[in-house]
Amino acid sequence: MANKRVLSAMRPTGRLHLGHYFGALKNWINIQQQDFECFYMVADLHALTSNYADTSRIKDDSIDMVIDWLTVGIDPNKATIFRQSEVAQHSELFLILSMITPLGWLQRCPTYKEQLNEIKSKDLNNYGFLGYPVLMASDILLYKAQSVPVGEDQLAHLEFSREIARRFNNFYGEVLLEPQALLTKSARVPGLDRRKMSKSYNNSILIAETEDEIVRKVKTMYTDPARIKATDIGHPEGCVVFAFQELFNKDAQKRKEECKQGCIGCMKCKKELMALMCEFAKPMMEKRNELLKDKSYVEKILNEGKEKARFEADKTMQEIKKAVKIF
Ligand code: TRP
Repeated sequence: MANKRVLSAMRPTGRLHLGHYFGALKNWINIQQQDFECFYMVADLHALTSNYADTSRIKDDSIDMVIDWLTVGIDPNKATIFRQSEVAQHSELFLILSMITPLGWLQRCPTYKEQLNEIKSKDLNNYGFLGYPVLMASDILLYKAQSVPVGEDQLAHLEFSREIARRFNNFYGEVLLEPQALLTKSARVPGLDRRKMSKSYNNSILIAETEDEIVRKVKTMYTDPARIKATDIGHPEGCVVFAFQELFNKDAQKRKEECKQGCIGCMKCKKELMALMCEFAKPMMEKRNELLKDKSYVEKILNEGKEKARFEADKTMQEIKKAVKIF
């Protein structure tokens, strides 16, 4: 039997931060090392649903993101890496699925309602934004992916993909496969200010960050406000520095005890964290600089990915067209 197929994607946001790494990419790397056939896609058309008024960064951000994927070890020999906009079948299936999508399914989608309420800097009252889950379903169904690694925030979209696949199959015959979410408990990565790490909060640390920046940023991290002297009892729960110790220090449990007993001050704890994070970032920085020197390498990977993705997408598209009967 053929290997199980996995598809996942990220919207192009430019250079990636540690939230992306610990929240998704580590998992992608893990999956790629197992017996899965992996498709990792740059969801640049999804970026268009909200950034339609200013598209100037989408392409560069896409390339930057792929560079970071390669930097952390996404392996083009193991995974097909491609840009959504280069495989026209995504748009084609999006159109067909939009015909059978009940409006209520989209209007009820929790992410839709949430973002409409929260994001005030852009006008999201457009048809494409409402149709975001239809495009995402197209991405997944086009490759007949069995498994889709996603974070919890995407579960509603995955459920939508399953429902729309069923609806398609009911109308036209069994063509599409219902995908399963591959939900992995990933580490929560706080930002410097304790909120979720996010580019828009300006509280993030990049995957490939310079030493100077790491030092500067760790200095600004929130620590336990109840602690004034180094010998005061510490509260590692809720301390940003400790959250990062858990990600980078294999002796984090020991550190937890030292902090709770007032055996280590926050400054020393931060200094040690800086060293660990610099050690992580150094090879990332080197790999990134190496990739930046040879842009044609990244282009070649995306070209190969595009060919492979088109080939697979076309196979499903042929079946879809046959089933719908008008083509
Ligand atoms: N919506 C996803 C996100 O914001 C990105 C995405 C687009 C995706 N298409 C996908 C994820 C297909 C998984 C599968 O994170």
